[in-house]
Amino acid sequence: MLSKLKNKKVALLLLPGIYFLLSFSYYQIQDDKPTPYSLPYDTAYLPKPNIPLDNPLTVEGIALGRLLFYDSLLSVNKTQSCASCHKQEFYFTDGGKDFSIGALNMPWRL
Ligand code: HEC
Repeated sequence: MLSKLKNKKVALLLLPGIYFLLSFSYYQIQDDKPTPYSLPYDTAYLPKPNIPLDNPLTVEGIALGRLLFYDSLLSVNKTQSCASCHKQEFYFTDGGKDFSIGALNMPWRL
């Protein structure tokens, strides 16, 4: 009799926890949908970017791209990111260089 009561108590204590876990995982599934992103400028005045229909802009995709752009782990010796050469102050160009010198400071096209 006493053990049955204990089991009921344990079940009553576990239920809120299970409910919380289930609702949290449901929230996670709902949250997996990417958030559409629209360009913050009027595309009538600038050339339209060529965005593939099957790969639309999303807030998450742009955040990932930004992360990778500044990540030096992508270079062969892990010293340079895209941003090391493609400077924001030069509108993300390489500042007028004709050829990339690469992470090893060697011109790749001679
Ligand atoms: C070591 C310097 C350097 C790094 C690091 C670098 N780039 Fe570049 N990139 C250049 C230079 C210089 C050019 C222009 C000359 C050329 O095409 O080689 C260029 C050209 C480009 C172009 C072609 C632009 C065009 O008009 O055709 C793209 C796209 C590009 N880079 C993207 C990237 C991305 C993405 C990364 C990171 C994964 C990156 N670059 C890392 C120096 C660099």
